[in-house]
Amino acid sequence: MRFETLAIHAGERPEARFGAISVPIYLTSTFAFEDVGKTRGYDYSRTANPTRKVLEDTIAQLEGGKAGFVFATGMAAEATVIHLLKAGDHIISGDDVYGGTYRLFQNVMRDFGLEFTFLRMDKRERIEDAIKPNTRMLWLETPSNPLLNIVDVEMMADIAKKHNLLTVIDNTFATPYFLRPIEYGIDLVVHSTTKYLNGHCDVVGGAVVTTTDELTERVQFLLNAMGTCASPFDCWLVLRGIETLPVRMKQHDENAMAVASYLKEHPAVKRMFYPGLKSHPGYEIARRQMKGFGGVVSFEIKGGIEKVNTFLKRIKVFSLAESLGGVASLAEHPATMSHASMPEEHREKVGITDELIRLSVGLENVDDLIEDLRQALEPS
Ligand SMILES: Cc1ncc(COP(=O)(O)O)c(C=O)c1O
Repeated sequence: MRFETLAIHAGERPEARFGAISVPIYLTSTFAFEDVGKTRGYDYSRTANPTRKVLEDTIAQLEGGKAGFVFATGMAAEATVIHLLKAGDHIISGDDVYGGTYRLFQNVMRDFGLEFTFLRMDKRERIEDAIKPNTRMLWLETPSNPLLNIVDVEMMADIAKKHNLLTVIDNTFATPYFLRPIEYGIDLVVHSTTKYLNGHCDVVGGAVVTTTDELTERVQFLLNAMGTCASPFDCWLVLRGIETLPVRMKQHDENAMAVASYLKEHPAVKRMFYPGLKSHPGYEIARRQMKGFGGVVSFEIKGGIEKVNTFLKRIKVFSLAESLGGVASLAEHPATMSHASMPEEHREKVGITDELIRLSVGLENVDDLIEDLRQALEPS
């Protein structure tokens, strides 16, 4: 089956007992055994749940992986995956990953004996030079949040194979509709399903997709041992969202391209970050490895923080809010919102300036979005 069909039919659908077309929500913590020592396939919802299983199978098939697991949040998914490692292991991570990922690594996992190096993941030599005898993992995010930097996924998988490293990619921004990292040789895919997979800003969730039996067994073990799984109701919301993922992504991409093209020419805009623009340093790689560029557009405004605040106060169709990937357009200020957990020096080093604004371009009529940006950018 093709992507659009899988998004609607993957997993056990229709449900076996009554043929329900909408996946039933199994709101139960526990399951009656058929006999002593014999379950009907499920025993306790932390370990596995039938609603969750349909979502897990769906995400695994969309990514082209072995198995899927879903979590209470994207951070719960990441926290679970990082526990595949042990004290003394070294991880090389992109330097402009989501602020919460940076915080998990620097402020939580470092205290448990993991070692991190944060690098711009653009040059093979830079990464190979950072590999040490205890390096175990490459952690990648592409397009990155909020600078939309592009990582060459095939090159990363090649480096990892040569040095026997595990590769993890955060595929939240691209979604499997635009990028299928496993096809390039990546070992594990993580998602914040809160974003495009759900698509309606009404749930927080996460996912992990594995590629081998060994990784599948270990992630299942950790999910159960750590209790990081998603609730059945949240799973249902994400399942419902995924059914329209292909049509939503197409429109997000089209609207974002129009918004980026408009902003690029605007005199109040200092710098653009959108991988669909030819001027973006990752444009060629993005075009090669992705089917679309996505719905997030970042830009720097001229005139410092005062102009940022004026813009954010004036927007009407865009809401001033964190998160992204929903049908409604959002605007946010990474330095004080999504990436406030990153120390100022690190933000400066990677290029997340105080003048940077990140837009999640939604599915409204694009002319209304552009008019909103025009009036918010007008000189006062
Ligand atoms: C790229 C990326 N990864 C992970 C996360 C964390 O996901 P969650 O907020 O669902 O815990 C986010 C959240 O903004 C994100 O943007």
